[in-house]
Amino acid sequence: MKVLVTGATGNVGSVVVAELLKRGAEVRALIRKPDAAQKLPPNVEVAIGDLLDPVLTEEAMKGVDKLFLLNAVVADELTQALIAYGIAKRIGLKHVTYLSVFKVQEFRDVPHFASKLAVEGALREFGVPYTILRPGYYMQNDIGLKDALTGPGLYLMPLGTAGIAAADMRDIAEAAAISLTEEGHEEQTYDIVASSLISGPGNAALWSQLLGKEVKYTGHDFDQWEKGMRARMPSWSAFDLRMMLQGYFDRGFASTETEVARLTKLLGHTPRSYEAFAAETAETWKS
Ligand SMILES: NC(=O)c1ccc[n+]([C@@H]2O[C@H](COP(=O)([O-])OP(=O)(O)OC[C@H]3O[C@@H](n4cnc5c(N)ncnc54)[C@H](OP(=O)(O)O)[C@@H]3O)[C@@H](O)[C@H]2O)c1
Repeated sequence: MKVLVTGATGNVGSVVVAELLKRGAEVRALIRKPDAAQKLPPNVEVAIGDLLDPVLTEEAMKGVDKLFLLNAVVADELTQALIAYGIAKRIGLKHVTYLSVFKVQEFRDVPHFASKLAVEGALREFGVPYTILRPGYYMQNDIGLKDALTGPGLYLMPLGTAGIAAADMRDIAEAAAISLTEEGHEEQTYDIVASSLISGPGNAALWSQLLGKEVKYTGHDFDQWEKGMRARMPSWSAFDLRMMLQGYFDRGFASTETEVARLTKLLGHTPRSYEAFAAETAETWKS
């Protein structure tokens, strides 16, 4: 059984590739640049393509059985996703596992959530067997805060105080590989969320303890945050992420025990916690 993985050079896709190989699946990766093949395990087949190019995307899909579809947060995310989905439908792939996002239906004013909701709609409507994965905030996002945490001691993500759902990428990848290699996951939507909720002040306190220094939460002034992010990413992207974070703050993004229990059953273990992720990461930074 061969699976085409999109986003295979990225954070989640690279772990999905490893989990599929571990389960004995054959993997083909759709990558944009031939050089990127060096990042992949040697037994992964490579198809050079671009999700904005239907011809190359169709070539990449020929001869595979299933698709793991992950789209980057880009301005044309919906077009890229529907090109891949439309071709998968036309050539009759046996299954598509789609990487969506937690509570997607409650954030229809956030551009990248709205794209994912539209793709979920297509998956449900057009009859190709599918599984939808809806992860919370990636714990591994916070690896990018290393300099601020270990330097001035600042926790910069405006996560608010109420507590939001988080997901470890390794759990996302396991869920993806299970849905693609085992029976019984057709037409299922799985929330990928850990049981402990994370917050700005809570994460600052946790990192203080782990790093043995004071770490302060910088608060949630969304205007300031968006302005700062414009220096680091395109302004549409800063806007999109601000809408998401402000949405978490205004409407909540918490997981329930029922959602966690369902994921525990799927994975066969308790979802990894932010506390465990942070402890492991702090150890790596110290060494
Ligand atoms: N971060 C979070 O907290 C969070 C939470 C829930 C859901 N998500 C979702 O997770 C996804 C991002 O996952 P990630 O962090 O693993 O992504 P990532 O590390 O940013 O990787 C994106 C991947 O997409 C590929 N890509 C970009 N444009 C492409 C194109 N036109 N054609 C083909 N491939 C293309 C990139 O390839 P190159 O190597 O060529 O650039 C890369 O492999 C998004 O859909 C996001 O909404 C994120």
